[in-house]
Amino acid sequence: MKIAIGNDHVAVEYKREISRYIEEKYGYEMMNFGTDSTERFHYPAAGEAVACAVAEGRADRGIVICGTGVGISLAANKVNKIRCVTCSEPYSARLSREHNNTNMLAFGSRVVGIELAKMIVDAWLAGEYEGGRHQIRLDMLTEIEKRQTGGR
Ligand code: RB5
Repeated sequence: MKIAIGNDHVAVEYKREISRYIEEKYGYEMMNFGTDSTERFHYPAAGEAVACAVAEGRADRGIVICGTGVGISLAANKVNKIRCVTCSEPYSARLSREHNNTNMLAFGSRVVGIELAKMIVDAWLAGEYEGGRHQIRLDMLTEIEKRQTGGR
């Protein structure tokens, strides 16, 4: 499993810790995006970079972190094929995999403490998409993308 991870300037150390946690616990390969500096770095650039890596198949999943997790998830969800969930607890993280087949996770470094963030990551990585009754709704999301891009 390859996971792309990206952040803005308020989540530099936080990203490093989450990245290290996933590498050490799961042995997954982490692809680093966003910034490693505390100089201002606008979250749409990081959200788009991670989302494109996932949408283009260079990464299997993506994790994005900004102050609230909101701005960076909005950017990610602009990219076709991306279903990015912003979470501040593990229940939604797990259900977002089982029901919504999310391929990206976002959280806020100013909202979620680092140990809770690790629990959210664990729940998200453990969740398996259930398919079945949920698939029609995911197909409807894809139809929205197609309408927005004029069927391309
Ligand atoms: C940066 O100050 C902050 O706006 C950003 O990290 C994020 O919270 C936006 O949604």
